[in-house]
Amino acid sequence: MIQRLKAILCALLVWLAILGEALAAAGWLAAKTAGILGREGKAGLAAFFEAPATQIRIFAILRAVLPNLSLGRSLVKSYGNTGTAVVTRREDVRDVLSRDADFEVVYGPRMRKLTGGDNFFLGMQPGWDYTRDTSAMRLAARRTDVAGIVTPRAQALSDEIVAAAPGRIDLPADLSLEVPWDMTVRYFGTGGQRELMESWTTTLFWYLFEDLGADPALDSRAMKDAGALRDYLDGAIAARKAEGGHLGDTILDRCLALQSSGTPGMSDIGIRNNLLGLLIGAIPTISKACCLAMDELLNRPEALAGAHRAALGGDHADVAPFLWEALRFNPHNPVVYRRATRDTWVAKGTARQCRIPEGQMVFAATLSAMFDRHAIAEPNAFRADRPWEDYIIWGYGMHECFGAAINAAVIPAILTPVLAQKNLRRAPGAEGQIDTGGTPHPQHFHLEFDV
Ligand code: HEM
Repeated sequence: MIQRLKAILCALLVWLAILGEALAAAGWLAAKTAGILGREGKAGLAAFFEAPATQIRIFAILRAVLPNLSLGRSLVKSYGNTGTAVVTRREDVRDVLSRDADFEVVYGPRMRKLTGGDNFFLGMQPGWDYTRDTSAMRLAARRTDVAGIVTPRAQALSDEIVAAAPGRIDLPADLSLEVPWDMTVRYFGTGGQRELMESWTTTLFWYLFEDLGADPALDSRAMKDAGALRDYLDGAIAARKAEGGHLGDTILDRCLALQSSGTPGMSDIGIRNNLLGLLIGAIPTISKACCLAMDELLNRPEALAGAHRAALGGDHADVAPFLWEALRFNPHNPVVYRRATRDTWVAKGTARQCRIPEGQMVFAATLSAMFDRHAIAEPNAFRADRPWEDYIIWGYGMHECFGAAINAAVIPAILTPVLAQKNLRRAPGAEGQIDTGGTPHPQHFHLEFDV
């Protein structure tokens, strides 16, 4: 009986905290919005509402009063849909991302445009095609490669780049793009000129995942870049095949070995499409995540000091929790989206149940899930001691990031030598802020430190 009373009291306290948090968030949003409208007019509001700190507050309000909502209005133009739903509670976000039969991935049509025909496995529903491609690619990109091949090289290269930087570094241009590109050369085996590979993969990532408004100019650029990347990869595969590359240890070489053994899905075109998908996933994402984590740490002197101490110790595993926590506050992608395959429900049988009509685009708000007080202890505090399960920073469920183990090793490898620098700080003025150069991905972000 006492246990039951305790449980009820605890639940009540959590609800009170959630309501208090929502009220505080509403006050903050009202004051900030009024200030921006007064200073900059409506033009200043877009950037404000895109900022993670704003989105965290909006989600706090939604979780308290309208945790699941469905609107007839269509917000995404790039993939067909009949409206928009937003899911904010952790339990429901994970539920949506686990129910593949009810909530499908939408990327197939654009993936096909990029490959010139076939789908890539992120655009596939469960079935033979998905199993064939992911099974073959898991044999080619082995989990053991992360410790054996990827991490040692990423660490050595990052250490070398930072050691050669005279008290100043442009994080994406000098380091966080270089390291994943180098990984695609040495480990993927795809090679290519750095600027071109970075530019192609950034455009294609943008087109697939971030072009919600379906910009026609981006469409033309993506078609041009996809054609160039396909041609480049076709040439690289043919050249490697001619050299007898199936005996080597890169992902491409292992794909060629699988081809020699008659493995399904490993035709030249199959290999090219799988490598194209992996490249798009790998280069712009790791760099952006590094910049966002660093940006967040620089806004939090105590956390930065903690990360600096951990980095001085030299153990990347001690630095990593600071980076995951920074990415919780400032994630690479605040939502993952799916489309309802049929009329269905979220949280059915609960007070927050919500009917989702067929065709509606569902924003599973992973950012919100990581701040849900029902599941996350002290969600608004920056804590480097959270269990890994608290985080959803590269998806969840069947399509969880193929590169998850790589990310977990390479992001700390890139940032540890930077964080170890004395008096690490932003460069003065605009240079010390992330410059995306008109894309959704950081191009410049200058940092300074004492030498
Ligand atoms: C910090 C860097 C990265 C972030 C933030 C990230 C994010 C994500 C997210 C959110 C998803 C799930 C998308 C969805 O469910 O709709 C995903 C899937 C995927 N990612 Fe990553 N990713 C990163 C790095 C990488 C790397 C390095 C690779 C390649 C080695 C990669 C390849 C993929 C692939 C192939 C999928 C599809 C997996 C599947 O459908 O089973 N990503 N990623």
